[in-house]
Amino acid sequence: MSFILPPLPFDREALAPHMSAETLDFHHGKHHKAYVDVTNELVNAAGLQGKSLVEVIRAAKPGPLHNNAAQLWNHSFFWQCLSPAGAPPTGRLAQLIESGFGSTEVLLSTFGEEAEKHFGSGWAWLVLEDGALKITTLHDGDTPAAHEGMVPLFTLDVWEHAYYIDYRNARPHYVEAVLNNLVNWDFIALNLDEGGIERADQK
Ligand SMILES: [Fe+2]
Repeated sequence: MSFILPPLPFDREALAPHMSAETLDFHHGKHHKAYVDVTNELVNAAGLQGKSLVEVIRAAKPGPLHNNAAQLWNHSFFWQCLSPAGAPPTGRLAQLIESGFGSTEVLLSTFGEEAEKHFGSGWAWLVLEDGALKITTLHDGDTPAAHEGMVPLFTLDVWEHAYYIDYRNARPHYVEAVLNNLVNWDFIALNLDEGGIERADQK
């Protein structure tokens, strides 16, 4: 059985004007799809057919299969992190934000700085570490799915293909637009159960 391109969890027009339908057509329909296609092309030759996506990421040697499978997983997680009408954080998540950062505004500005200054392609991550929120970045296609014990809560794609159609070279404008308007706090709260890795996995 082949891996599939998971459908977007929202309408392709739903994130405009912060993320346009054209960006989603390219980012999801072409970039994400290409990671699916290349993973499917390479998985049999590596003898990893029948494994789950996360198992492929962990078993593949460094190289094209690992990179494409990791990017397939990263994007499948990323789309779930976005929502056109996210409700503000409540409950345990609100408490973790308060104890770790003092306020949601400080969390978002700290995350935004990390995302903006990340050199080259990669991903900014909000993770759970030792019961506390932590912000980090990973390079290129590197992924929490490859790091034992890394608990992903939220991510932002800072590859140029994520923003060039809507924002040209202005990564900070893209980062601010997404963080101020499209964060799916419900998904972040859900991932406090440490089940985030499975939410972008495929059997
Ligand atoms: Fe991307």
